[in-house]
Formats: sequence, structure tokens, C-alpha cells
Amino acid sequence: MGIFSNNSNSNDIDISKIKLPEHLGIIMDGNGRWAKKRGLPRSAGHKAGASTFRTITRYCSDIGIKHLTLYAFSTENWSRPKAEIDALMKYFKQYLEEALRDFLDDTVKIKFLGDISAFPEDLRELMRKNEEVSADRNGMILNLAMNYGGRAELVNAFRKLAQEVAEGELSPDSIDESLISSCLYTAGQPDPDLIIRPSGEYRTSNFLLWQSAYAEYYIDDVLWPDYTKEHLNKALLEYSKRNRRFGGV
Ligand code: IPE
Ligand code: IPE
Ligand code: MG
Repeated sequence: MGIFSNNSNSNDIDISKIKLPEHLGIIMDGNGRWAKKRGLPRSAGHKAGASTFRTITRYCSDIGIKHLTLYAFSTENWSRPKAEIDALMKYFKQYLEEALRDFLDDTVKIKFLGDISAFPEDLRELMRKNEEVSADRNGMILNLAMNYGGRAELVNAFRKLAQEVAEGELSPDSIDESLISSCLYTAGQPDPDLIIRPSGEYRTSNFLLWQSAYAEYYIDDVLWPDYTKEHLNKALLEYSKRNRRFGGV
């Protein structure tokens, strides 16, 4: 029996022996359906999802993932009922308070991807503090995509470049792929190698549109609150066997 085993029980996975993605993205989806299946309010699904979030973040840091991006709240999620938004804000706040209180000797560096100006001031303050206290850490970079949308991110980048062109600081000819990448929230970080979406949905839902040009996708049927290290191991193992060609042969 290896240290890690997946759900199909026969295949043991020794994660220390496989090629890991340098940057892993996860679309944390399925909280609402998880709650509905149990006759619970959607907020109960978000609470359970927050617990999975803690476990998986810790595990990714332990196994040596360098960049982890978790999609927590999209620019489109504001269209949900107020009670659901309030519950989500409550769990975001709880986690960020806990991170400041309990994880002070952690190595994880926290960053936020998205327009955080839309969040309530107390939450923004917690976001700033978490970025501040973790800024000099040298472990995994945990990117929390909150009020994030791939299109909104590109709109911001193009506006910034257009402004520089208008001010005569930038020539249109010098706009290239790396310049656009440097204007995104993920500036300075590698593109995601693997993006996992639990809950069985086959879509990006506006996640890392530019950065995912050559990302490998892995869809898992399990709902996020039920997602375990074993599900992740299975995805990582499959990723390690994929042949990435990047347009070559
Ligand atoms: C993901 O779960 C959490 C957020 C989008 C904030 P959902 O709330 O989308 O759950 P489903 O997809 O409705 O089951
Ligand atoms: C994507 O999930 C956003 C997050 C997980 C934060 P959604 O549940 O919002 O996406 P759709 O509506 O199914 O495309
Ligand atoms: Mg969903």
C-alpha cells in the first residue's frame, strides 16, 4: 500500500514520484448542488466548500505545488440572491481572519486576483493584511480569484495599455503577448498547467481566459464539498501522463 491511494483503490499513487503542474488552477464548483441534495440551504454548501478549500490548499502546499489558483467568486456571481452573497462574504471573512490569527508561521503567500474594490471594507482590509503579512514568504503562492473574471481582467489590461499609448509612452507595435501577460492579475507567475473543475461542468466560466491557452483540463464529477486529496491525486496522476504538445509534434 502506497502513502496515497485513489478512489479506485487498486492504483496506489506516490505523488512524490510524478511530475506535478507548477501552476494548478481549481474552479471550486458544486457547493449549491451538494446542499440541495441534502435538503440544506445553499449556504450550507458554501460552508462545506470552505472546509474542502482549507484541506486542499494545505495539501497542495505540502506536496510542493508552487502556484495554486482557486476560483472562489466570479464577476458574474454577484447576480446571486443577497442571502447567498452574504453567506459567501461571511466564509471569506472567516478564512481570512483565521489565516491572520493561526497561520502566522506559514510559508504560503496569499494574493488576490480580481477587482477587490467591490467587496465590503472589512473584507478588503483583511485581504490587504493577508497579502501584507505573507508578502515575504517563499512557499506556495495561493492566488484567490475573487470578483475575478477573465474578460474583465483583459478589459483592464487593454485600458491600461491604451492609456499608455494615448499618453505617448507606448507604441502600438510594442504590444506583444508578454506585455499583455504583464498587465494581468497573474503578472510574473507562470500560466496554469492544469485546471481542474469538479461538479461535472465542461466550461471555463470566465476563469483565466488568457492564461489557460495551453492549460490541460480535468473535469471531475464529484461536487466540491466532497472533493478529497484522493480526487486530486488522481487528476495529478493523469496530468503527469498527458502529452502536451503546445502546437508542436
Ligand atoms: C461554487 O459552487 C461556489 C461559487 C460559485 C461561489 P456553486 O455555488 O456554483 O454551486 P452549484 O454549481 O450551484 O452547485
Ligand atoms: C464558476 O462557477 C465560478 C466559481 C466557481 C467561483 P459558477 O457556478 O459561477 O459557473 P456557472 O454559472 O456554472 O458557469
Ligand atoms: Mg456553480
